[in-house]
Amino acid sequence: MIGVFDSGLGGLSVLAALVDALPQADFIYFADTAHVPYGDKSDAQIQARVLDIGSHLVEIGCKLLVVACNTATATAVEALRQAHPGIPVVGVEPGIKPAAQTSVSRRIAVLTTEATAKSARLAHLIRIHAADVEVFIEPCPGWATKVEQLNLNDPTLINDVRQRVQPLLDQGVDRLVLGCTHYSFLSPHLRALAGTHATLVDVAEAVARQTRRLAGSLAQGHGKLLLEASAHPEKLHAALDRLHLSRLATRAV
Ligand code: DGL
Repeated sequence: MIGVFDSGLGGLSVLAALVDALPQADFIYFADTAHVPYGDKSDAQIQARVLDIGSHLVEIGCKLLVVACNTATATAVEALRQAHPGIPVVGVEPGIKPAAQTSVSRRIAVLTTEATAKSARLAHLIRIHAADVEVFIEPCPGWATKVEQLNLNDPTLINDVRQRVQPLLDQGVDRLVLGCTHYSFLSPHLRALAGTHATLVDVAEAVARQTRRLAGSLAQGHGKLLLEASAHPEKLHAALDRLHLSRLATRAV
């Protein structure tokens, strides 16, 4: 079984890509809904949650873990790897590299949670992959919470998305990196704003390909999906329809 987790619903965007890449694999998705959002938590708080969830998933039989959360990856993926040396761990990091490689204007922006924005890991990614590109880091407080509430078309949210993204486009940014898995569900708003000026960069499919490379015999299961949450698990099932992921619901046991 492959364990996939996030603070809440955001990682479902990664899970969808994983299921497409590994249709026969068995997955468990854990949403830490009792502690969402992670973006405004301290490193120590995020690390404690990640280690707890990792141990739980390994105890119930997961042989590979996917941290479907940029914030958890930035803060705690190394601690998780150290805690479970025998288990491959795939993290999710903002697509700074593909954005920098393809940007024509040589200006890119990364939309993230507050915790990821100030992480040393993001600074390192930028240093090694985007040294010759101007990178705008845009923390987007509140966006993940709106996605959690399934308030995707909330006018306040749409307005906030415009207020944060339009100035970046005005400065000539032509790649908008989705640096939080929740933001995939805001893609329609972001795409409408970006128009022909900028392209969204989402790494879900790259993460799925990397997971497939590491999956070995885990690729051959029964195509089952188990959904777990630390609070309100029933909301997780209900959210699948609202997020246009009913194809995942049909696998859920
Ligand atoms: N989905 C998460 C990420 O990719 C975290 C959002 C949050 O809980 O603040 O960063």
